[in-house]
Amino acid sequence: MIRGIDIGLAHPDDAPRIARMSRDLIEHGLGWRWTPARVLRLVRDDSTNVAVAREGTRIEGFGIMRYRDEDAHLMLLAVDARRRRGGLGRALMEWLEETALAAGIGVVRLEARASNHPARAFYRRLGYVEAMHVRGMYAHDEDGIRLAKDLWACA
Ligand SMILES: CC(C)(COP(=O)(O)OP(=O)(O)OC[C@H]1O[C@@H](n2cnc3c(N)ncnc32)[C@H](O)[C@@H]1OP(=O)(O)O)[C@@H](O)C(=O)NCCC(=O)NCCS
Repeated sequence: MIRGIDIGLAHPDDAPRIARMSRDLIEHGLGWRWTPARVLRLVRDDSTNVAVAREGTRIEGFGIMRYRDEDAHLMLLAVDARRRRGGLGRALMEWLEETALAAGIGVVRLEARASNHPARAFYRRLGYVEAMHVRGMYAHDEDGIRLAKDLWACA
């Protein structure tokens, strides 16, 4: 729990802000794939949770996780640059992981750009293991890393 921050499900009206954050904080150099319309579809999708961290009416961070039969997939996660290293990323991940556990899901998978060393350090700190280095996973032949966490083992 972080003072003044409320974590919960996104509303349809939040889709444009989340999409802009994705474009500016995650997708830079890759082209804008997570447009407002695409994020809105996820907000409305029963098997996906779009979690936001709000301070008042402002969204300071968000995470999107899709829940499948056997595992969950983190699709996007970002915290506003001014609010980093304050525990918001961890709080969002814990919220999403708790939802996965409650649904009986024991594994979370995600991908990160190989060059994104801050995010890789963040995920490792949270117990994620770097399982595979994939050449050319992203546009412009950029390499990626597949990570996973066994929630049951870590619980
Ligand atoms: C990755 C990201 C979501 C982390 O959010 P955050 O709110 O800053 O993370 P937290 O404050 O919860 O960090 C938890 C722990 O992770 C580790 N960590 C976080 N950022 C780190 C960094 N830049 N370098 C090294 N370790 C880091 C630290 O151990 C930290 O604990 P500490 O601050 O007590 O040392 C954030 O940096 C971000 O939005 N980055 C840009 C978008 C992005 O890369 N998203 C991931 C795409 S795969």
